Amino acid sequence: MRRWLLLVHRVPVHGTFTLNDLAGGAGRMDEVARAVSTAFTVSNDLRRTTELVLLFTGAPVPAARKIEFFGDRLRYLNPDERSTAALVKNALVRSATLDRPIEASPGVRVSPTRPLDELRQRVEQSPPPIWLTEGAPPLEEWRPTAAEASFILSDPFDPTSEESQILTASGVDRRSVGPRSLRSSQVIDVVNNYLDRLGVP
Ligand SMILES: C[S@@+](CC[C@H](N)C(=O)[O-])C[C@H]1O[C@@H](n2cnc3c(N)ncnc32)[C@H](O)[C@@H]1O
Repeated sequence: MRRWLLLVHRVPVHGTFTLNDLAGGAGRMDEVARAVSTAFTVSNDLRRTTELVLLFTGAPVPAARKIEFFGDRLRYLNPDERSTAALVKNALVRSATLDRPIEASPGVRVSPTRPLDELRQRVEQSPPPIWLTEGAPPLEEWRPTAAEASFILSDPFDPTSEESQILTASGVDRRSVGPRSLRSSQVIDVVNNYLDRLGVP
């Protein structure tokens, strides 16, 4: 099982963005969509033992949202970033006036959240997540201890000081996938390949 938490900072949480400007007015939704796609898609198939959370940390409560993707029942996720962005937009728009979780489409659940509390909870989970960040010890020196692996990474914007403080204070293991700062989706690709070679489901 592979779990991902992506910290999303500037995507409008009510889904008020156009699919024609994903890299601009949509707050780098292009890269967020690419990360979702990379986490789940392989050639002609989906990784069914993957779950991913988009934690929209850029908006205050009660606007803040999280979107959870569950690989075992996920549908309508295609490899192109525009249709993935449309799935996310649809979930955010449908959730905008609600104060409860909904399944916006099969395998896509959107909920109001308290992002920093959510992050605090996630770093306490077992097995503890790995914080993927530049300049950390090499990922290859880490081995998953269970048939499950969990990771936290950020979108094109670095974690805020509050987020970094929570991650640092939790003592979660920090790992780097190489000497260059990569795009979030590229990091997911590298980690997925590493886990594939280790035989992690
Ligand atoms: C595009 S980077 C963030 C922005 C980047 N720090 C900058 O200087 O503009 C996106 C995220 O991918 C992860 N990341 C990037 N390069 C990495 C690496 N070499 N190892 C592990 N994680 C990395 C981190 O979580 C990072 O916050």
